[in-house]
Amino acid sequence: MSKFAWVTLTTNDTYSLGALVLAHSLKRAGTAHQLAVLVTPTVSEAMRDRLKDVYNIVQEVNVLDSQDAANLALLSRPELGVTFTKLHCWRLVQFEKCVFLDADTLVLQNCDELFEREELSAAPDVSWPDCFNSGVFVYKPSVETFTQITEFAIKNGSFDGGDQGLLNQYFADWATADIKKHLPFVYNVTAYASYCYLPAFKQFRDKIKILHFAGKLKPWLLQFNSETKQVSVSTDYAHAKDLIQLWWNIFCDKVHQSLSDNMAGLAGALSQLQIGQQRSPEQEAYENLMRRQCWESGQIDYSGADSFDNIWKKISQTLEAKPVEKEAEQTGSS
Ligand code: UDP
Ligand code: GLC
Ligand code: MN
Repeated sequence: MSKFAWVTLTTNDTYSLGALVLAHSLKRAGTAHQLAVLVTPTVSEAMRDRLKDVYNIVQEVNVLDSQDAANLALLSRPELGVTFTKLHCWRLVQFEKCVFLDADTLVLQNCDELFEREELSAAPDVSWPDCFNSGVFVYKPSVETFTQITEFAIKNGSFDGGDQGLLNQYFADWATADIKKHLPFVYNVTAYASYCYLPAFKQFRDKIKILHFAGKLKPWLLQFNSETKQVSVSTDYAHAKDLIQLWWNIFCDKVHQSLSDNMAGLAGALSQLQIGQQRSPEQEAYENLMRRQCWESGQIDYSGADSFDNIWKKISQTLEAKPVEKEAEQTGSS
């Protein structure tokens, strides 16, 4: 068994969709190493079973939350306090070395050479390249390091309220000390286009090894047509459409059939979709509701408890109400 592992985190069934697609993308790229996922108690049993199908280790951890509303507001991502939970990855001491990957990353090519790097290796962040992006990093598990970082967090907090600010404060000499710890950008390419990005994206796209859907709009929140199996993307993502489609292709081929309605959030909702079949009016109405939810997710706490459950309740009520409406129409009483 390999002493190296890819590690990710999910705190709910919706992010678990990303974790499932990520695991399949790693296998598709032919990794020789193990896969581990950290889950919090809020991930359903049904989802854990599916994660166990593809991850060698499904490790439950407690939620660590920065509860730093002020700094998270600077990032416009109030939900990211829980990313402190990532720190538990240092406790996987059964492995010699690990690479942490956010659940919203997609591995496009084999990257096993990353395990030759030392702690803490990471790629520059697009918005502040003297900081590393914490969606992909090489590290060495150690309970001592875990304790030191958590103690550091209690004392110093995090400048962005999430793990990225904290880890950049802790590994503060990353920008200057050792260039070998700077991963090439191809190991963590942000899907969202920013200024000057498009020509380079076009020029180097075949070299991209890991794509990272950093930002609010995750692939699972984009509009997906279940009949044609095609995803629709906004102009900000147009350059990466085929790669977002790849996320959905992996989802359709490897993940969708394993979902069940006892899962929470979007996972439970997506389990109801019939993929590759002509849509009934009910299915279309359902997809429209899902789409609306996705658009609204820019403003609301989409990862918050039960938001999809509420939608699901509403759909059930609407469907249940239908025959009554029909009867009413027939009798001409409405
Ligand atoms: N995450 C999670 N639940 C949440 C938010 C984040 O499990 O509610 C985990 C997940 O692995 C995710 C990572 O923390 O990929 C970082 O969050 P995100 O990718 O949304 O941040 P971004 O890359 O967009 O800044
Ligand atoms: C970032 C990283 C993500 C991290 C978040 C909060 O943009 O992509 O991995 O969790 O900021 O610090
Ligand atoms: Mn991310």
